[in-house]
Amino acid sequence: MTDVRESMYLVSEFAKDYFNKTLLNSEEGKAIGLSYFKERGFTNETIKKFSLGYSPETWDALTKEALGKGYKLEFLESTGLTIPREDRPFDRFKGRVMFPIESMSGRVLGFGGRILTNDKKAAKYLNSPESDIYHKSKVLYGIFQAKQSIAKQNNCYLVEGYTDVIQFNQAGIENVVASSGTALTPDQIRLINRLTRNITVLFDGDAAGLRASVRGIDLILEEGMNVRVCAFPDGEDPDSFARKTSHDDLVAYLEENSKDFIQFKASLLMKEAKNDPIKKADLIRDMVVSISKIPDRIQREIYTQECARIMDISEQVLVSTLAQLIQKDI
Ligand code: CTP
Ligand code: MN
Ligand code: MN
Ligand code: MN
Ligand code: MN
Repeated sequence: MTDVRESMYLVSEFAKDYFNKTLLNSEEGKAIGLSYFKERGFTNETIKKFSLGYSPETWDALTKEALGKGYKLEFLESTGLTIPREDRPFDRFKGRVMFPIESMSGRVLGFGGRILTNDKKAAKYLNSPESDIYHKSKVLYGIFQAKQSIAKQNNCYLVEGYTDVIQFNQAGIENVVASSGTALTPDQIRLINRLTRNITVLFDGDAAGLRASVRGIDLILEEGMNVRVCAFPDGEDPDSFARKTSHDDLVAYLEENSKDFIQFKASLLMKEAKNDPIKKADLIRDMVVSISKIPDRIQREIYTQECARIMDISEQVLVSTLAQLIQKDI
C-alpha cells in the first residue's frame, strides 16, 4: 500500500515537471499555455512558485513520455493522469493549462487543468479524480505556499479558485488558500486550524459565492474558529478584483470590508429583508443557529449580545431561542 502511494507521488511529481517544462520550453506550450498565463497577468516568478504547466494537445504526450522514462501505466492510470483505453490510453488533461495541487508538505497530490477556450459546453476546469493520494475534501489549494504566512499573519484568507490564490500571491498577500470550488469541509478547516484560529472568507461576488460563504460560516464556527467575511463587488472575484487594484488599495479594501459573521449576516438582512418583519425574524433565527455552533460558552454570550444590539431585539429572546438549540451548557 505504501509502495503504491509512493509510486503515485513519484509519477505525479514527474508530470508536474513535464507540464512545467512543456509550458516554458516547447513551441506549443509557449504559444498557447504561456501566452494564456501572460494574458492573465501571471509573472514568470508566479509560474515558478506554483509550478504551473501546460499539457500538450497530442493524444498521449505525457503518457508516452512517462512510460519511456520507466513509469508504469498502472500508476499513470490510478492517479488519473492517463485515461485507460484498450487500444490507446490517453492524457486526461490534454490541451489544458495545469495547476498542480500540493499537500501541506509540498507533495503533488493531483491537478486542476483549465481549458483555454471559452467553450461553454466543455468543463472549464478538469480535476484529478479521487485516488489513494488525492482526496478532494481534504486538500486546500496553495496551502504549501501559504503555510508560513498564515502562521505569521495569524489569519488565513479562504478563496474559491486557483487563480484567486495566485493573483493574491502576486499582489503580495500570501496567506491564502482555495477550497477549489467544492463545498468547504471540516477536514479542510482543520488543516487551517493547525496554523491559525482565524479565517477570512473571500468568496466570489455572485449568488453562488454568497451561498458558499454563508454555509462556510457555520462549519468554521463549529470547529471553534473565528470567522470573518469580506464580500466583493458584484461580478468580481478575488482574482479579477486584485488585478485591477494596487497592493495598498487591496489591503485597505480587505481591512475595511472584512466583517465578523454577525455583521456580515446583518448586512445581508439590510439588503434582502429591509423592513419585512418575517424575513427579519428568519434572519435572526439564522444568526442564532450560527451562534449555537460556537463551542465556547463565553464566545456564544458575546455574540448573542452583539446580535441583540445590531438587530435591535431583546437579548432574552435570543438566549431562549439559543437554549432550544443547545440543550446543554446554558
Ligand atoms: N471549479 C472546478 N470545475 C469547474 C468550475 C470550477 O473544479 N467546472 C473549481 C476550480 O477550482 C475553480 C473554482 O472551482 O478555481 C472556482 O470556480 P470559478 O469561480 O468558476 O472559477 P475561477 O477560479 O474564477 O476561474 P477562472 O478565473 O479561470 O475563470
Ligand atoms: Mn486513502
Ligand atoms: Mn465562482
Ligand atoms: Mn471565480
Ligand atoms: Mn476568476
